Formats: sequence, structure tokens, C-alpha cells
Amino acid sequence: MTFDEERMKAELDFFNELVNKLLEQEENEPVVSPIPAGDVIKELHLGFDDAPLELSEWKKVVETAVMNTPRTASKLFFNQLFGGRQPKAVIGDLLAVLLNNSMYTYKVAGPQAGIEIAILQEVCKLVGYEDGDGTMPPGGSMSNYMGLVMARDAKDNTVRYSGVTKRMTLYTSNTSHYSTPKNAAFAGVGRDNIRYINNDNEGRMDPAHLEKCIQKDLAHGHTPFYVNATAGTTVLGAFDDINALADVCQKYRLWLHVDGAYCGAVIFSKKYKHLVAGIERSDSFSFNAHKMLGTPLSSSIIVTKHKEQLVKSFSNEADYLYQTGDEDFDLGRTSIQCGRRNDALKLWTLWKAVGTSGLEKIVDQQFKLAEVARDYIRSNSDFTLYSHPNSISVCFNYKKLDPKVLCTQLYEDGSLMVGYGKFKGQEFVRLVTINATNTKVDILQFFKALEEGAKHIG
Ligand SMILES: Cc1ncc(COP(=O)(O)O)c(C=O)c1O
Repeated sequence: MTFDEERMKAELDFFNELVNKLLEQEENEPVVSPIPAGDVIKELHLGFDDAPLELSEWKKVVETAVMNTPRTASKLFFNQLFGGRQPKAVIGDLLAVLLNNSMYTYKVAGPQAGIEIAILQEVCKLVGYEDGDGTMPPGGSMSNYMGLVMARDAKDNTVRYSGVTKRMTLYTSNTSHYSTPKNAAFAGVGRDNIRYINNDNEGRMDPAHLEKCIQKDLAHGHTPFYVNATAGTTVLGAFDDINALADVCQKYRLWLHVDGAYCGAVIFSKKYKHLVAGIERSDSFSFNAHKMLGTPLSSSIIVTKHKEQLVKSFSNEADYLYQTGDEDFDLGRTSIQCGRRNDALKLWTLWKAVGTSGLEKIVDQQFKLAEVARDYIRSNSDFTLYSHPNSISVCFNYKKLDPKVLCTQLYEDGSLMVGYGKFKGQEFVRLVTINATNTKVDILQFFKALEEGAKHIG
């Protein structure tokens, strides 16, 4: 064995040791006791010295940092729109780190570029974009940004050269993700040119209000160009009515982007695909495999039916980079980045292992778990339910406790990790049943831990 091989093997042995300890801890102590943010650097020795650490010391600080990190794969993590661990995806991501390719050219990425293209082609097929294309941006926010930029350029191609010269207006619901205002600023169209559209009682964008806002902007001589619909709003998990929004977009010739970061993976489910009915009428669509499909962060996909627009908006000549003439496999031509990590492999290793029907089962399981949670809430008079069927965000309150106080208490005493949200002025706890490795028993355990933890509120 060479010296380099030996060094790598030693680190992998250490890695395996850590993994074993972590898996055991996740089981025994699913929620770590939080260290106050202001103390964490000092307490865990996270700062640096001029001198190197002894190997044993280095191992100790690394292990301490790992063991004190919130356990997002544990059975009591319900705090965010991701959670759990799909081992077949984890191995893909570990391999991506080991291989360390950059996805910009076929020369450097080889079969890894083929893997990404195979994923994009299959997603386009599922969405119904006949001759579509896409890319894997670093997360759902950036996917939305790419949708917005393509929409801007499709409306006015001169913007790419001279900048925004007219007042371009865009539309998104009151409860859509906060990336839209940031992206409007990045894209130069401006936060003030966003029109926030009303929601119905289930959190879906109101198409009639959308049309009214577009008409008003047109009457003022503005240039409406983009509608951001959501498949799974961040708090309620609501699905906008894509067909109704597509009718409006078609009428006024606006780009329709569907932000499916949270729940767009319903495209894999025969039972739940109806929630994005009309998706083939959209201009672009994105979803996060690291949310519903359970891959490690991040693995986000945007596809568009306007292949040529993707290239127009995101390509640039670079003869120091593109040198082999493998245009269709030089994925830098459709990316927002230059060097780009391989976010495709983890989804591919999972998808190949379980098949498309396996991804469908992963998605369906989350809806099943949400129903278990809703049933529990409905049958227990200490709880009040706020969420709706067809959502994996189960929103509720317990014994009229302030949800913020309750969630903070559960976090601080290490009982459980869950967050809270708000809709139309009502605050509630938001249980997200996104971890498909959970079972009914785990959901019932969630409620048990919550009820136990709530007893400690003074
Ligand atoms: C609806 C929606 N869009 C976009 C995003 C952003 O995704 P990311 O965190 O990958 O940037 C989220 C994240 O929760 C989301 O809920």
C-alpha cells in the first residue's frame, strides 16, 4: 500500500468508527442537548491554533463536533422539510465526495455527467416536457432563481446585455417561499415589483386575484413576466392549482414556474400526481430530492420545456474550459455555476436501487404518516388541527399552549425537534412527516414525546 493509500484508509477507518458511534447515539439519544450558540465555539474548541493538533486530540475534537450536532436522521427530528436517511443515497453522496468531479464538462465528469443527464431526461418525461432539459442547482432557492432569470430573458432578451430597463412585474402567493423576493433583487427586477397574491383558506393562490393584479400592471404600462406557483407551500404544504394559473399565464403570455422544492416529488406517485395536475403546461418546474425523496442535502432539480432558453440564459463561451466538443454533456453550459459539486449521484444510487416504483413508495409513505398524525389529532380533544388533507405538513396546537413556547421547550430539554408556523394570523406547531423511514409507531412516539415534554412548561 502506498503512503497516500494508507493515509486515506486510516481516515476511512476513523470515519467508520464515528459512524458506528453516531448510529448508536441516534438510537439512544435522538435529540442532542443544544449548546447555547454563544458558547459553541469555545465549548467544543472549534477555533484554530497555529500549531497542529496531536492525532488523538484531533480525533477527539472532530468526534465531539459530530456528536453534538443536531441529529436530522433520528426518529425525533421533525423540524424541517427534510429528515431521515436513505442509506442507498448516502453512499452515493459519499462516493461523490471521494470522486470529487466537477460537473461542468464531460472531460472532467465523464459518466457522472451521463448520470445527471439520465436523471434530467427521466424527470422531463415524468413532468411531460417532450423536449425539455434542466440542471441541478445548489438548492430550491437557486432553482427558483434560474426559473425567474429564464422568464426575464424570455420576456426581453435585451436584458442579458443592457440590464433591466423597464418595470418588469412578477407574481407569487402570499405564502410562497422567501427566495422569490431575494431572487427578484438578484435578477435586477426588484423586490418592489413583486405582487403577492391572496390565498384561499387552504393556502392556494387565488387565480382571479392574480389576473386582476396582472391587468392592473398592464394598465400602468408595466411588463408582467413571471408567475411563481408552489407545489407544497413551506408552512401548510399546499398545492397551487397549476391548471388555473396556466390559463392566466397563457392568456397574458407569462412564464409559469412551479416551485416544487418541498412536494414536487409527487410526480413519482400515481396516487398523488394529481396534486400537480397541469404541470406539463408550466414553463419550468423544480423539486428537491433532498426533501421528499430523502437524499442528503442538497439535490435539487430544475427542468424546463424551453431547452434553448436554458442555454441562452446560462451559457457563456470559455475556451479554457470547454475543450472536447462534447457540447450536450458539458453541463456547465446550462448551469448557474462554474465548478459544481455532483448532486446527481446520490439520487441515482437511490433511484437505481429502488426503481421508480420505490421512489413512489417513499412519497406515498409520507402522506400515509400525515394521515396517521391527523387521525391522532382528530381523536384527541387536547389537540386542534389546522391543516388539510393532501398535505404532509400537519399543523396543530396542543392544550392552547403557545406553539413557540412549546417547540422551544421541546428543543431545549432534548425531547423532540419540531417547528412552528403561521397562516392567516394563526400560529401552530408544524409536524412534517417527510421522513419516509418512519412508521406509524414513530409518529405516535412523536405525540408521546410532545405530551411528555409539554408537562415541563411552567
Ligand atoms: C416551497 C419552497 N421553495 C424553495 C425552498 C428552498 O429550497 P432550498 O432550501 O433547497 O434552497 C423551500 C425550502 O424549504 C421551500 O419550502
